[in-house]
Amino acid sequence: MALALVAAERPTALPCFGGATLPLWTLSDQAWPPVVRLKLGQRLDASLRNDLPREGEHTSVHWHGIRLPNGQDGVPYLTQRPVWPGETYAYSFVPPDTGTFFFHPHCDTVEQLGRGMAGVLIVEGDEGEPYDADVPIILRDWRIDDTGGGFLPFFTPEGAGKAGTFGTVRSANGETNPEIFLPASGDCRLRLLNLDNTRVMEIGIEDAEAAIVAVDGIALPPEPLKSWRLGPAMRIDVVVRAPADGETVRLVDYFAADPVPLARLTGKGEAQRTAAFDPAPLRAGRIPEPDIDNAERMVLAFSATATDQAVAEAAAQGLILGSLCSAVGSFWAINKQAWPAGDHSRIPPPLATLQRGRSYVFELQNLTPHQHPIHIHGHSFKFLRSNRHALPVHHADTVLLQPKERIEVALVADNPGDWMLHCHIIEHQESGMMGFVRVT
Ligand code: C2O
Ligand code: CU
Repeated sequence: MALALVAAERPTALPCFGGATLPLWTLSDQAWPPVVRLKLGQRLDASLRNDLPREGEHTSVHWHGIRLPNGQDGVPYLTQRPVWPGETYAYSFVPPDTGTFFFHPHCDTVEQLGRGMAGVLIVEGDEGEPYDADVPIILRDWRIDDTGGGFLPFFTPEGAGKAGTFGTVRSANGETNPEIFLPASGDCRLRLLNLDNTRVMEIGIEDAEAAIVAVDGIALPPEPLKSWRLGPAMRIDVVVRAPADGETVRLVDYFAADPVPLARLTGKGEAQRTAAFDPAPLRAGRIPEPDIDNAERMVLAFSATATDQAVAEAAAQGLILGSLCSAVGSFWAINKQAWPAGDHSRIPPPLATLQRGRSYVFELQNLTPHQHPIHIHGHSFKFLRSNRHALPVHHADTVLLQPKERIEVALVADNPGDWMLHCHIIEHQESGMMGFVRVT
């Protein structure tokens, strides 16, 4: 399948902007956000043209969660040359997994993603029995200034040094609390994607039966949805029994004193199903099974490097974005190593060198009082256990580390190359909490 992406400024009036038009940066003329669907086994040939209006603003496309060859991974300096304004770059790969993925730039992500540069990538072929609907729901905030016509700064030292800088307007598919119609009493697949720079959400559906059937694209046996914490970049596929014709249930974020409504799900038309809710599972994923008994163990400790005072000083000096990709100062580190300030062109040594084909168990340790969604490129973690939360065994390319939490994940290092490993709260990533592992 051929896909032509053109990064450009496109003034857009999404419904959640309340009548205002904002200078979005997007990747296509299609309605925001673009949703690309492929069948398993199909090759994606994507071209990226950089028509961004700012001099020196290079870009790239990272295919988040796709276990592709390293040269296609879209990380400027580490896996490809940056794509400068006026240039074009070609990607070509066959995604090896079915599921719900997305794509976004990987330098100055705080602004480029903040202004809208992202798309959904769906690889079909995992449904043994078809569901009655398939609806991607993109959840994110926008940082809109008081005039309503522009953006607030995407990076603030106060935010970057703490939980991140939050948006001012929440949205689902570009609307505030939209009404989404589903076939009445149908078993409907909702692909929920947190594409926010910052916000961790706790997803639930009130007054409806629902089950999680995939995490980060990879199937798990249907797991009743009570609530699921979804950090930036994380996805869940949920099957919900839609309400009867004319009735509505609420998709909500419980990560607040009062649940925040995200979308209204309204049943429409004839009842599709009458049998008790027992959602069909997806076909099992294809992630190689790690050999836990013979795995090598490693610790990855996520820590703060900057004190509260340093953050305050940085703010006072009006820090902080240096040249593209990375802040002038660093607030965060992995195993005491912060990504060098400046930009990605100064590549630090790898956090670890992994032997191709070997299994590894990483103990991810959060030494900070903040949450960090930790993402690895080119591989999928098998979530083994946490010292704080009982979650079902599942796969994920991004796992959410709570304050003081330790999580064990395993993988087979089967994909050669240099693979980013970083926090997906973008300000944390761009102020030091980023590194890479080398598989040789
Ligand atoms: Cu979605 Cu390295 O990122
Ligand atoms: Cu973080």
